[in-house]
Amino acid sequence: PTPGWAETTDVVVVGSGIAGLTAALHLREAGLHVTVVTKVNIDDGSTRWAQGGIAAVLDPLDTPAAHAADTEIAGVGLCDPAAVGVLVDEGPARVRELMRLGAEFDRYPDGSLMLTREGGHRANRIVHAGGDATGAEVQRALHAAVRRDPWIRLVEHALVLDLLRAADGRVCGITLHVLGEGSEDGVGAILGRAVVLATGGMGQIFAATTNPPVSTGDGVAVAMRAGAAVTDIEFVQFHPTSFVGGDMHAVQRPLISEALRGEGAHLVDGDGKRFMVGQHELAELAPRDVVAKGIYRVLAATGADHVYLDARHLADVAHRFPTITAACRAAGIDPATGLIPVAPAAHYASGGVRTDLHGRTSIPGLYACGEVACTGVHGANRLASNSLLEGLVFARRIAEDIARGLPPQADPAEPAGDAGWVVDQDSRPALQRAMTRGAGVLRSAESLAGAAAELTTLGATRGTARTASWEATNLVTVASALVAAAYARQETRGCHWREDFPAADDRWLGHFLGGIGQDGSV
Ligand code: SIN
Repeated sequence: PTPGWAETTDVVVVGSGIAGLTAALHLREAGLHVTVVTKVNIDDGSTRWAQGGIAAVLDPLDTPAAHAADTEIAGVGLCDPAAVGVLVDEGPARVRELMRLGAEFDRYPDGSLMLTREGGHRANRIVHAGGDATGAEVQRALHAAVRRDPWIRLVEHALVLDLLRAADGRVCGITLHVLGEGSEDGVGAILGRAVVLATGGMGQIFAATTNPPVSTGDGVAVAMRAGAAVTDIEFVQFHPTSFVGGDMHAVQRPLISEALRGEGAHLVDGDGKRFMVGQHELAELAPRDVVAKGIYRVLAATGADHVYLDARHLADVAHRFPTITAACRAAGIDPATGLIPVAPAAHYASGGVRTDLHGRTSIPGLYACGEVACTGVHGANRLASNSLLEGLVFARRIAEDIARGLPPQADPAEPAGDAGWVVDQDSRPALQRAMTRGAGVLRSAESLAGAAAELTTLGATRGTARTASWEATNLVTVASALVAAAYARQETRGCHWREDFPAADDRWLGHFLGGIGQDGSV
C-alpha cells in the first residue's frame, strides 16, 4: 500500500522486547533519535513470558569457555564459534548493565546472585527474577528506562509492512499500519538512516506454542520480501514442557520452565516411571531437543497426549516458582501435591535473518536482533536461557555499529517486496494445524510435502488489508520457508528430527540460505 503519511527519525527499531528496547537505549547513548514501533502494546512480546532466566558466567568457578562448550554441544555442530565467543565473553557485562538499569534478580540473604541450571548446562549460571518471572522483570526495567527518555518515540499498535529502500538498495525506513492513525487505511512510513528488526519469533505457525499471539514471524517475512538472507529456519525448538492441564484449544500454552527440572523435578510417564534416565547422561537436564524427543517417543508409544513433571519432592515450589504454581492452580493442580501434565510445544526459532557479529544483515542499513535474527549462536538447537542473553549482547553491538557512522537520510524508492495482496486472515488456524501435523517435532518427506501442499492452498487465498491478514501472509511466508528448508535437510540434527533420515549426517553440516525468488517462490 502507498503510505499516507511519513515521519523521520535517525533509527527505526521494530519490536519492543529485550532486543528492541536494549538497542533503543544504547542508540540513545550515542545521541541518536530512535522510534520504536511495536505491533500491540510495548509489553506484549515474548520477553515478558520468559521464565527460567538469563545464562551468563557470573560465578567465579564458571568460565566463558565452559558456557561456550555447552552452547556448542546443544547446537550440534552448527553454531558459529566466533558468535558464541562474543555471546559468552560479553554476556556477563551486559547482564550487569541490566542490573544497573534497575532489573532486580533473585539473591541469597548475603546479597549474592542465585544461579540455577537448565537443560544442557553443566554449571549453575542462570540468573532469574521473581522466581520464575525473569522476563517480566527484564521487560519492566527496560520499559521504565525507555519511558524515561523523551527522545525515544514509541509507536504502539503498529504492524511493520515492508522495508523502504533507497535507489542504491540501502534500507531507509519502513512502511507500517498504525491502527486508528493517519490516512484512511492507517498506512504510513517512518524514514530512518538504519532499521533494526527485533520482532521476535514465529511460534504462531504451530497449533501449540509457548509464544504469545504476536509471534507471527513478521520480521523474517519482511526481510525475506526485501531479499535478505535467512538461514537455519528449519530449526524451531520445541520446549519439552508446556502445560497441558488448562485450555487444550488455546494456541499459546503456559510454559513450565526447565528451571523446575534444574531444581530437581523429574519427568515421568503415565505409570510414574522416569523415562529420561538412561537416554542421556544428563537425564531430564539433557539439551532441550533430546528431552522433547524423549517425551515424543513416550507419547507415540502410549497414545497419551502428555507426560508428567513430578515436583512434589522439591522444597517450597510455590515460592520458587510462583508463575508456574499459579498456572497449575488455575487448572486445579497443586505442584506441591500433584503431577503436572506437560507436552512439547513450539518455543523458539533458532534461525532467522542472517547477521554478522554486528547484527548487520545482507542488506545495507538493515540490522536484526534477538529471536528474529540468526547470529549463529544457536546452531541446530538453542541452549536454554541463551536467548535473552543474545538480545542483550547483540543489541549493544548493533548500536555501536550504527553509531560508528550513519549515512544521511536517503529518499525511498518503492517499498521492497510489497506483493499487492494479502492472505485471508481466516487461514491462520488451518496453517497452524498443517504445520503441527507436517512440520512439527517429527518430520518426514511425506509429512513435509503434505504441509507444503496445504500452504500452497492457503497462500492462494485472498483477504482484505488489515492486521490479521498481513499476519496471515507473514505466517504463510515463514512457514513455507521452514518447510522448504526442513524438506531439503535430509538428516536429523538438533531440533530438526526426520523420521526418514534418523541420524545426523555430516554431509549436511552447513546452513541453507533462503530468500524469496523473483517469481515469489521461497
Ligand atoms: C525455560 O524457562 O524453560 C525457558 C528458558 C528458555 O527458553 O531459554
